[in-house]
This record gives sequence, C-alpha cells and structure tokens, in this order.
Amino acid sequence: MADKKKVFVKSYGCQMNVYDSERMTEAMAASGYAASESEKDADLVILNTCHIREKATEKIYSELGRLKARKIENPSMRIAVAGCVAQAEGEEIIARQPLVDILVGPQSYHRLPELVAEADKGRKPVATEFLADEKFDRLPASTSPKKSPTAFLTVQEGCDKFCTFCVVPYTRGAEYSRPAARVLAEADRQAKRGVREITLLGQNVNAYRGEGAGGRRWGLARLILAVAEIDGIERIRYTTSHPRDMTEDLIEAHASCGKLMPYLHLPAQSGSDKVLRAMNRKHTAEQYLKIIEKLRVARPDILISGDFIVGFPGETERDFSDTLSLVGEVGYGQSYSFRYSPRPGTPAAEKKQVPPDVASERLHRLQALLKSQQIAAQESMVGRLANVLFERKGRFDGQLAGKSEHLQAVHASCDDSLMGKLAAVRIIRSEPNSLAGEMIN
Ligand code: SAH
Ligand code: SF4
Ligand code: F3S
Repeated sequence: MADKKKVFVKSYGCQMNVYDSERMTEAMAASGYAASESEKDADLVILNTCHIREKATEKIYSELGRLKARKIENPSMRIAVAGCVAQAEGEEIIARQPLVDILVGPQSYHRLPELVAEADKGRKPVATEFLADEKFDRLPASTSPKKSPTAFLTVQEGCDKFCTFCVVPYTRGAEYSRPAARVLAEADRQAKRGVREITLLGQNVNAYRGEGAGGRRWGLARLILAVAEIDGIERIRYTTSHPRDMTEDLIEAHASCGKLMPYLHLPAQSGSDKVLRAMNRKHTAEQYLKIIEKLRVARPDILISGDFIVGFPGETERDFSDTLSLVGEVGYGQSYSFRYSPRPGTPAAEKKQVPPDVASERLHRLQALLKSQQIAAQESMVGRLANVLFERKGRFDGQLAGKSEHLQAVHASCDDSLMGKLAAVRIIRSEPNSLAGEMIN
C-alpha cells in the first residue's frame, strides 16, 4: 500500500486561525491525509494567512516565493492559501503567484477535500463564500487523545463593529454565534481527549449571542458557566473581548466562577477620546477605565492585557500622551502594540497619515512603558505560589513548562508524569518572558 499522503498547515495571525488550522488538519485526516510537522515531506501545504497589517500580508508572498523551489522538486505537491488574505485578495494571489493551486476563505475550508480533488484534476479552485453556520457542523472532529491539555474553541466569528482601521469585518463577515449545545458538545469532546483548559474564541467573543435551550439566546457569561460544568475542564479563558460588550454578568462571572481564569485581554487601542471616536470604537477612555475598575472589584488579582495602535491618522502628541496616561492608570501585565498600518478598503486608510518616523518613535515610548509594566507584574509573582498547567517540555532536560492562572509562562524542574496536569509551583525568579518555579511537596 502506498504511504499515506501528508498535509502541513502553517498558521499566521490570531488564535482563530490556529483553531481553523487544527480543523483543516482534521478535515484532511478524514480524507486520508496524515498531519505533518514540516513542509518538507508534505503533499499538501496550507498557508493559513492573516491580513490584519500590511506586514502580515506581505509575509505570505515571501513564503510562497520560498515554496517555489520545493514545488519544482515535487510538482505533485499542492499549495493552498487559506485564511484572511485568501478572502481579501482572492484571485489576485494566483495572478501574483501562479504556483498557488487552491484559494480557500475562512468560511469555506470545510470544502477542502473536494477542492484538493479539483486541484488534482488541474483546476485552480477558489472558495470564498460566507457560510459560517455550515462550516462548523460539516467538519469532521477528532476523538483521539490530544497532545496538549489546552484547546481553542471558536464560539463566535465575524464582526459587525467596523472600526475604521480594521479588515476583519470584510475578511470574516458578519457576526455569527454557534448554538450553545454545539459548543458544549465540542468542549465535552475535548475534555474526553484530555483537554483541561478551554479558551473560547471569537473576533468579538463577548458579543456571543448563541441559541440556547428552548430557543432563548445565551450570552457569553451563561456559556462560560455551562462549560464550567463539564467534567475534566479545569480552566476557562476567552478572547478577544470588545469593551462595548463587557456586560455586568460577564464581569460577575469573574467573581463567581472559580474555573474562569483571572486574565482578560481587553484591547484599548488608544487613550484619546478623539482618536477612539475616529476609530469608531464607540467608547471613551473613561468608560474603559470604569470596566477595568469593576473587573478588579470582581477579581482583585485579575491580570489585564491590551492592544494598542499608535500613529492612527490625526493622532497628535497630546492624543498619544492620553494613551500613555491610560496605560499608566491600568497597569498592563501583558500587551500587544502596533504602528497603524493602512489597510485597503478601510476608511482610515484614506485619511492623512502620521509620518512613519513620528509613529515609530511613539511606538518605542509606549512599548518601553508596557514592557516595564509586564516586568513589574512578573516580579510581583516572585515568592508566591502559582497553579501551573504543564503543557510541554521545558528548554532544559528534566523541565516542564506551562501557564499560570494569569497566563504567564512558567517552567520548573519536575517529573514528566506531571505533563498535562495542574500543579502548585513556587515562583523563584522572573526571566525576560517567563517565570522560573520550583515544585513544592
Ligand atoms: N476584535 C479585536 C481585535 C482584532 S485585531 C478588537 O476589537 O479589539 C487585533 C489587533 O490588531 C487589534 O486590537 C488592533 O490593535 C490591531 N490592528 C487591527 N488593525 C490594525 C491596523 N490596520 N494597523 C495596526 N494594527 C491593527
Ligand atoms: Fe476589527 Fe473592531 Fe471588529 Fe475588533 S471590533 S475585529 S478591531 S472591526
Ligand atoms: Fe488576521 Fe484574520 Fe485573525 S486578519 S488577526 S487572521 S481574523
């Protein structure tokens, strides 16, 4: 019998793409493809792409250029471009890089097996229709033991908010929430595969409004409480949230649900009301701060993470200093900050741009502040106990690594048998991007 064919999926962009890549691998497994860890021996290479900033998009073209040599070596290898660049640029990708065989948008990848069959007949199929509800339920699901004790689970997809800088509403389409029963069944399946920590995902995960029992709509808080009832699930996280959808019951869940982890990624983007208005974020800096305050009442040790854009069109030095003040007030334990990148088809791209050197200099200042806050948050853990879920081998022999409740990376010397398990660790040292711990007996 011939060897099994192999598929290699490379993910760019957000966690929803990581989830999608896993589902694509599962979809191809049902068609007889084994998952490969490298493109070297793959018969099908899928690039699951991100369109959020110009750099992310350009990376795909250099990656495709690199794959050219491999395709010459092995002409029967198929190359698929999936994800948000495929959705946004469509056939333009094949025009720019003819070695691409298949284009598949984020809402159509359940059709991958049939698209691969078409490509084998010499066609170049393009699938970019929006069929979110169909996708989730047509995908075959794996029941074999999972390597990692953590899993992503997409519960909501798409966005109706149209921030003026962002491509997501165009690449992922309108907001769609999966029915609660489907989400719970998937969480239960993952628990049975050994998963202990579930991260509920959505572009606006806290805008979740899924169909619940009896046709009533459930919000995210209700869904979290139901996931917490599943045997085996010890930890729950959710991302990404929008400040506008941070409802009282969701904040309350941080107080009442012991399995909901004390960590929240809540993008602020800017601390200037003028810029927030121009971004169409539909909240003020003060409203954002108020939400943080309520979260800290509900869960005093909650670690806050944020996203920021600097150099948005019209941002002045004064607007930027409002961002620095907001950051100073919140105290972020983790953060992601970017220079504004004009995206084709979005309103802000048409506006007068901030000079690149001005934006870069602001980004440096902001990142220095955010970095000092991250270090302070890590150092405050030294001497304390952390509950760690070990998920992989550490950098050195005899070490395991995992995440604390606050999503900080922790490594410790311990027995391999703790892999996939929760254990109490005393934090002894803060390192640049992780914490060193020792086991307590
Ligand atoms: N849905 C989430 C964010 C999704 S995109 C939210 O509403 O907050 C992830 C992050 O990328 C954003 O929070 C933003 O900080 C950044 N981003 C999005 N578009 C960008 C652009 N055009 N230029 C620079 N950063 C951008
Ligand atoms: Fe983009 Fe705004 Fe939607 Fe987030 S809320 S995905 S930033 S449009
Ligand atoms: Fe990128 Fe698409 Fe996610 S643009 S950030 S992969 S939704």
